[in-house]
Amino acid sequence: MANNYERLGLKYNPFEPAASGIPVSGELWIPERWKLPIQKFLDTLQHTPGPKAFAILGEYGSGKSYLLQWLAREELPKESRRIQPFLFDNPGVQFYDLANQLFRQVGREEFAKSLWEFLSPILPGYQPSFFDKGFRDWLFYVWKHRRESDAIRVLSNKIQEYSIATDEEIRHKLARLLIETYDKPYFEYKDFVAGKRGSLVAEGEEAPYFAAVLRALKLTGNAESIAFLIDEFEEISLQKRLTKRQAHEYLATMKRLLRLTEKEQFWIFVAMTPQAAEVTEKLEPALWQRFISQGEHKFEIPPLNDNEVINLIGNRLKQARINNYIGDELYPFPENLTTILREDIKSSPRRLVKVCSISIARAVIEGDTIKIPFSENFLEGIQQELYPFQKTDE
Ligand SMILES: Nc1ncnc2c1ncn2[C@@H]1O[C@H](COP(=O)(O)OP(=O)(O)OP(=O)(O)O)[C@@H](O)[C@H]1O
Ligand SMILES: [Mg+2]
Repeated sequence: MANNYERLGLKYNPFEPAASGIPVSGELWIPERWKLPIQKFLDTLQHTPGPKAFAILGEYGSGKSYLLQWLAREELPKESRRIQPFLFDNPGVQFYDLANQLFRQVGREEFAKSLWEFLSPILPGYQPSFFDKGFRDWLFYVWKHRRESDAIRVLSNKIQEYSIATDEEIRHKLARLLIETYDKPYFEYKDFVAGKRGSLVAEGEEAPYFAAVLRALKLTGNAESIAFLIDEFEEISLQKRLTKRQAHEYLATMKRLLRLTEKEQFWIFVAMTPQAAEVTEKLEPALWQRFISQGEHKFEIPPLNDNEVINLIGNRLKQARINNYIGDELYPFPENLTTILREDIKSSPRRLVKVCSISIARAVIEGDTIKIPFSENFLEGIQQELYPFQKTDE
């Protein structure tokens, strides 16, 4: 098998058969046409107040998730931006669904520990060096000597001092979150349902609480700002029957997020299908227009053009090349690949990746019987097999 890959000038198949998400390794390439509007949005708002929300629209398999991953992996962490990304996949309609997913991503122990390190709280009557052994020791001491209320007071003051929160109850809740990590180093959904017994979120104050958490994450992560990348937002608005209540909550969540981006160093990117955007717009046109800044903060992923097809494939192949490879960029695909593939195949990243993936897999299994570079017949056969019907509805 290894030899069969070598014959193709490859170490492995660089196209994932499921054609979803991103490759595990390597730099992510994206077309300039996708990059520019997003970079412009980031450049413009990086140092200017204003709503920092952006909608990415695209059909099924057009590359929405890929684009979000590119943002998270390549663009946001750049030196010049230092934006710390958090990815969300199909969150619920409620605001605390986001808090829940966020904290689960960060992890309670991780969050509490880094906040503790950052605040460096000293209990009254103790030398700083007493707590050199770290967070766990400090917690142990606090509980053993029943100094919880002292600890909460000290933490709460520090939280104010660093402008993470001013509201008393929010400071108290954050301090509790930290010290109760002692015997509960994980989060539960109910921790974020305001009003529930023992909840970590102050009732009626979800948004300011969330803002405090964002500030804490920013400070502890030494980031300029925080970004939420929310994938499959359509799942929310396209639920077969969005009840009145759900619709209301969905819109309330969008509103709160949007307001947060105006006040905090906080960005949101949502990815959804154009249909989902339409549904959202119908629910509350003014909100949607504000969200996308009257259309300025919106990008609809266009179908790939031939040049982009060649770049996409060339870049994928390059990552998987055997050492010292010399040969054509598209090999084992023929130079005239774009004239062979049907328009509905090559314009869609998912279809294209799938056809490429199967072509290579088959050449590896069948070996010498498959001619290289791939013939027109071979490629047409595969695209026909995978996508038998020519799309006529576009
Ligand atoms: N710019 C690109 N370069 C290389 N591969 C890409 C690019 N864009 C998308 N792909 C690949 O195309 C396939 C489909 O992309 P992706 O899963 O991001 O689509 P999607 O729009 O999120 O689809 P869905 O609507 O099903 O969520 C994936 O295998 C992905 O790796
Ligand atoms: Mg996707």
